[in-house]
Amino acid sequence: MIYKVPVIPGDGIGPEIIAEGKKVLEAAAEKHGFGIEWIEYPLGADHYLRTGELVSEETLKELGRYRAIYLGAIGDPRVKPGVLEKGILLAMRFYFDQYINLRPVKLLEGVWTPLRDKGPKDIDFVVVRENTEDFYIGQGGRARSGRSHANLEVKRALYNVKFGLDIDSDSDEIAYQIGMVSREGCTRVIKYAFDLAMQRRKHVSSVDKANVLSDIYGFWREIFEDVRKGYPEVTTDFNFVDAITMWFVKNPEWFDVVVAPNMFGDIITDLGAMIQGGLGLAPGANLNPEGTSMFEPIHGSAPKYRGMNKINPIATIWAGAMLLEHLGEKQAARDIVKAIELNLREGKVRTYDLGGSSTTSDVGDEIARLVRSV
Ligand code: IPM
Ligand code: MN
Repeated sequence: MIYKVPVIPGDGIGPEIIAEGKKVLEAAAEKHGFGIEWIEYPLGADHYLRTGELVSEETLKELGRYRAIYLGAIGDPRVKPGVLEKGILLAMRFYFDQYINLRPVKLLEGVWTPLRDKGPKDIDFVVVRENTEDFYIGQGGRARSGRSHANLEVKRALYNVKFGLDIDSDSDEIAYQIGMVSREGCTRVIKYAFDLAMQRRKHVSSVDKANVLSDIYGFWREIFEDVRKGYPEVTTDFNFVDAITMWFVKNPEWFDVVVAPNMFGDIITDLGAMIQGGLGLAPGANLNPEGTSMFEPIHGSAPKYRGMNKINPIATIWAGAMLLEHLGEKQAARDIVKAIELNLREGKVRTYDLGGSSTTSDVGDEIARLVRSV
């Protein structure tokens, strides 16, 4: 069996961490008697600056022929924020309708957490982030620029005196952005969270801000209540997003599966990454169970570390394990996670973020060696 897997190393440290991920996945494949054929796609800042193209319809169509894409990181300081992120990363999440963003928050043995008195048995939950709706739909705009006023002169004089502000005809300008959630979008991701909880400790926590953004998140909450009727064995709780940041820090052991709308899910998973030992250890999967999924570390492209062989590749290696699991290679995936655990427990070969002085490729070599021996 040979799996064909498109790989997008991307920007910044992307190529370095993907190289280690490929190394470890190949070791696991060899051990378990299957092959992986990587199909490289050089998308990212360099490609964009050279050609003006982000990702073409044709490339998307081609990528859509595969079940799983392996992605490094997208983002580069030479390009205005948002261009590459929206034009490549979000474009792919949306095009492939990867409606689940699965982000395990698990503290492994031997890893330091900033939460005092909490250990691996306390920090072991999964965030299921909605990945195609909410404030990520890109609907917004600006208005009221260049409006003239009957009393502009008066206002100008007044504001100048009162606030020392120079008032021009753009002073009324506004910007807005809207979020939306759909019944279908909420139902499918919340259902996924409940199904996942059935295989775990049978608890689902919902995240919203229904006390203020009641239209959008009141709807989310209603659908959560509908879905949970189908899972009488699963216990649930509701959390306002501000409060859940507090509970992640104070009582992470309460959580099993946490389901969140897109933007809140984005925010709370950076916090999740920190309590599991740092961004270098946090993997993620963008899933469309019926289509093309994509596996990536949750961290960005860390451009200032580019080419230094310094950054921690574990998040990417772990995301690679999730990719193999998705393809059905469960034993190979388990071996990779076991090898990561062993590496961290031994604590000898570590990158700087975990207090070590090993390089990116040292860690990749070591985990690949451990995969062969576990
Ligand atoms: C993430 C990132 C992305 C997001 C950005 C880069 C578009 O922060 O994967 O969490 O907001 O989803
Ligand atoms: Mn993020």
